[in-house]
Amino acid sequence: MMQQVYSMDDYDFKGKRVLLRVDINTPINPKTGELMDYRRFNSHKETLRELVDSGARTVVLAHQGRPGDMDFTTLERHAERLSEVVGKKVKYVDSIFSSYVLREVEEMEEGDLILLENCRFYSEEVLNRPSDVQAKTFIVQKLKNLFDVYINDAFATAHRSQPTVIGFPVVMKSLAGRLMQKEIDTIEGILKKPKKPITFVLGGTKADDSLKIARKALNNDTEYILAGGVVANILLVAKGYRIGEPSIEFIRGKKIVDQIDVGKELLEEYSDRIILPSDLALDHYGERMEIPVSDLPKNYKISDIGHNTVEKYREILMNSGTIFANGALGVFEDPEFKYGTEEILKAIAESKAFSVIGGGHTVAAAKKLDLYGDITHISSGGSACVNLLAGYKLPAVEELKQSKKKFRL
Ligand code: 3PG
Repeated sequence: MMQQVYSMDDYDFKGKRVLLRVDINTPINPKTGELMDYRRFNSHKETLRELVDSGARTVVLAHQGRPGDMDFTTLERHAERLSEVVGKKVKYVDSIFSSYVLREVEEMEEGDLILLENCRFYSEEVLNRPSDVQAKTFIVQKLKNLFDVYINDAFATAHRSQPTVIGFPVVMKSLAGRLMQKEIDTIEGILKKPKKPITFVLGGTKADDSLKIARKALNNDTEYILAGGVVANILLVAKGYRIGEPSIEFIRGKKIVDQIDVGKELLEEYSDRIILPSDLALDHYGERMEIPVSDLPKNYKISDIGHNTVEKYREILMNSGTIFANGALGVFEDPEFKYGTEEILKAIAESKAFSVIGGGHTVAAAKKLDLYGDITHISSGGSACVNLLAGYKLPAVEELKQSKKKFRL
């Protein structure tokens, strides 16, 4: 991708005003509001340090959570954390494109850093639309005139078609940041000649993203999809199982009931290559209770895959040439239900396969288990990473390519 998009090597940042999109979307402790994981902050350090050291005036744009979710909040704490990572004060400005922002940007000195408010506080930011439409949004139109150049370093959001991700490259000079460049180059390298058979492990709660990825991957060269988490629950319902009220309620709450039909279509086409849990662990008043899926429904929340499923998945992983994994297989934060996620990660690390893992919980679990050294690539992205691995183009990268054709630095 290096020749197709501008990189940070192509530009002299001294004294320039830079708009930098990062992804520091982080799990948040619902009780204390504390940020629970700093990995994404660290992953942008190289880009940020380089901008500071080369005398740029950098304004950072980022999102946190989604409207209506528990972790949808301001970026004040993120600015504190970013300051620690960069080793320089990052000023938090609690606005996105008001006249206050304009004044603050005008007053910046060389090497200064500002973090604007959660860009998803602006309603149009959560809409995924074509880039020419996003380029006309207020957020893009108001901010574009304040900056000389736009940098996208938010690899983990590169699969979204949102204004701050794809709108700016339409109207201004745009570059890939260091993290974006590294992620794309590494993943494209792995994809050049993947060793077969290829297996995807798809867990977590973003079942809509995961089923889309599963279809693409199966359409291409992927042999097996191993399902866990809410992705597995949706597919179990699609297969005709009644999974019990607490698990169904969770699916309703996430507004992904429509994915059951998507799952049905997928299973009709690929039933032999989509592998579902044969047993599950339920949350029985805080304790782990394992049942075969044939014993469903039970009125306790499905919280992990069971021991037999782990064995079945393990065998497939051991015989895989390449493994891509995203999302926890259960409620990994709870010691009673971390078993499935941890065992599958251990199997990935133990296998001889090329392996890429992404997604906050998966990566956190791998770190806790000290498995980093045995996994080929640990990505800063979750869905973005597996989208790319499954064969999708990432909208953020495609727009950077178009921007290079349109603008001279
Ligand atoms: C992520 O955490 O996967 C990215 O920040 C994208 O978040 P989203 O799924 O809410 O768009």
